[in-house]
Amino acid sequence: MIDLKKRKKIMGRSIKLGHCICNPKQNCPCPLFKEKNVCLCAGERLKDGIEDVSLTEFVENAGCASKISQDDLKKVLALLPEISDPRVLVGTNACDDAGVYRLTDKIALVQTVDIFTPNVDDPYTFGQVAAANSVSDIYAMGGTPLTALSIIGFPIEKLSHQIMSHILRGGMDKLKEAGTVVIGGHSIKDEEIKFGFAVTGVIDPKKIVSNGGAGPGDVLILTKPLGTGVISFARQLGKASKQTLEAISRSMVELNKTASELMTEMGASAATDVTGFGLLGHLTEMAVQSGVTVEVYAESVPLFDQVLEYLGLGMISGAIERNKEYASRYVEMSKNVGEEIENVLYDPQTSGGLLVAIPEDKGTLFINRLKQKGIRQASIIGRVISKSKGRISVKKK
Ligand code: CO
Ligand code: CO
Repeated sequence: MIDLKKRKKIMGRSIKLGHCICNPKQNCPCPLFKEKNVCLCAGERLKDGIEDVSLTEFVENAGCASKISQDDLKKVLALLPEISDPRVLVGTNACDDAGVYRLTDKIALVQTVDIFTPNVDDPYTFGQVAAANSVSDIYAMGGTPLTALSIIGFPIEKLSHQIMSHILRGGMDKLKEAGTVVIGGHSIKDEEIKFGFAVTGVIDPKKIVSNGGAGPGDVLILTKPLGTGVISFARQLGKASKQTLEAISRSMVELNKTASELMTEMGASAATDVTGFGLLGHLTEMAVQSGVTVEVYAESVPLFDQVLEYLGLGMISGAIERNKEYASRYVEMSKNVGEEIENVLYDPQTSGGLLVAIPEDKGTLFINRLKQKGIRQASIIGRVISKSKGRISVKKK
């Protein structure tokens, strides 16, 4: 029921100002009032919002493709003051997955935040993907996530409360699986849906797996296939098959927990997770921070089915181009690698796998143990060959 008295009182104020009071860019009465007889200023809602929606219809850049490019980010961060506090063990200058702050000699906080736009249609699944993605940066450091705060941007006037609560529920359930509790959050009205978590964990300061510890003699292991960006883009074009979409959903909701526990147990030298900057973007950070040259074997990199097919049909998103623009200056690409594989190596991943450097003699055992635990597509994709300022060479064997 419309509260006409309330509406009259509030609209009176708006009309006097000549503007809608919740959106000063609009005149009062606003188009929504004229067309639908709804006054948002008076707290009225479009009838319960839309219940049944495909989330990705509401976004321009799906998932981690909504990230700001490495180039732009570095330019902005360069303008900020440097932090020099001895308790900061890993700070922004390390370009690592999460920050680490020493509390005592035995324990440090490890913190990260990640939000992005939907790249799956189902609200509950999107919540799970966002949670798995947010907590992944803690796993990439070898930490144990404990608590999380949710952050959500949501067009609450257009979409129903149900959708928002399904998203939050998906996130909470996934974090529960990670042994992490949601203890608060923040929400904001937004034209586009955005969701994720700020996650806090703990780590033994002596067991931090940074991205700067890789050395000659290490092999590189990737724990999930690549191509979530390409397939999400194909979906936006209406060209992705149902099986492929299901395959990336299953992968994106998968926690990097087991892989993280195994890598710490086995003594990994370095690790990061593969997300918005693509495999070569994140590998660039690892190579530069570690001061090494690495080789990647193009045909050993695990890929989702149909990814190369979509790329061959020209479905190359702008995000691939942006990632390439930054990272390709560190990369030497053998001519016989082929354009499709080259592109997928720059494809932004949402909730991608861990990229781990581990001494060669432990590599095969690590892979076998990952496979035993159900991480079946984990593969050795390359090796560290020498010390340098940071180079990547992509080859076909
Ligand atoms: Co990361
Ligand atoms: Co991140």
